Amino acid sequence: RHPKIKSVPRSIDSCKTCGENIKAALKIYSQAWEKQEGNYQNFSLQLSNKCHGSEKAIITKVNTQLGSQIVYDGERKRILTVNQEMLDNFPNENPLPNKKWQTCAVVGNGGILANSSCGKRIDSAQFVIRCNLPPVTDGYEKDVGVKTNIVTANPTIFLQKYGALTGRRLPLMKKLQNYGDSLLLLPPFSFGMNTAVCLRVLYTIEDFGGPVRPVFINPDYLYNVSLFWRSQGLKATRPSTGIIMVSLALELCETVHLYGFWPFEVHPYSFQELANHYYDNKKATSFHAMPVEFKLLLELHKKGVLKMNLGDCE
Ligand code: CTP
Repeated sequence: RHPKIKSVPRSIDSCKTCGENIKAALKIYSQAWEKQEGNYQNFSLQLSNKCHGSEKAIITKVNTQLGSQIVYDGERKRILTVNQEMLDNFPNENPLPNKKWQTCAVVGNGGILANSSCGKRIDSAQFVIRCNLPPVTDGYEKDVGVKTNIVTANPTIFLQKYGALTGRRLPLMKKLQNYGDSLLLLPPFSFGMNTAVCLRVLYTIEDFGGPVRPVFINPDYLYNVSLFWRSQGLKATRPSTGIIMVSLALELCETVHLYGFWPFEVHPYSFQELANHYYDNKKATSFHAMPVEFKLLLELHKKGVLKMNLGDCE
């Protein structure tokens, strides 16, 4: 996995780089998992009542009408009044289903997925959510699968990799082909600087023709999700995309499986050094508190609300 490490500890007790949080996590994870219907219903209902993801996570002409005021979730003083031109960008109907999916996989981008052989298992879920336009081709299929129903995109990706869509647009369209007709979740109303570039992505896809379906995440939803997790003990400035997608999945799906959520530098079973992502070692931003998020998610695993997957799949 990582050839530069010559000797690897044989057990968790001899692993000097495995901090207490890793040891505690493995202790919880080693216990048999079973869905606890009551706990799941309770948590899913709490999320629906506080965040209304199934109706509000995506901006539509129904939940955001002409003349309404959009408050940016990352800059609460910035407000946009919806004019006709902006309204035309919103879908008429909610693209999310109004009945629950049986099984969903939420795929984080953690290095733990490298060489995991989890692709088939991820693809066997009815609904698959991925974060930040991750690679799903060129050999990554075996570990992460290819099926995608929702994929998010952080605008920094468009700025850093696609010239902010002010030049050639074909490279982005080629990249988006990897996600079939999935919903592409864009956050134009999180920060002022996101708006223009997200609109350019939407227009690019319209001009070239799908099949990916661009939609806008509702900043109200993002704000409510961050308040929700704050009430559960997450004090970070902004929740990560991963935990936001888990929150949405818990409203939309009966059974939620998580893959690629492991914000630590050591593999939980091989004890080898891990990259931050399964495809590169770019570090997470200081906006997020991933280890705190992980602890909250593991708590939900323990309560049978969702199933965390940390081991290899074959
Ligand atoms: N993640 C994780 N452990 C890692 C890397 C990622 O749990 N080692 C999860 C996080 O929830 C993260 C998600 O996978 O939000 C997607 O990963 P990434 O693209 O790295 O997200 P970030 O760059 O941190 O960006 P964002 O601000 O969109 O959360």
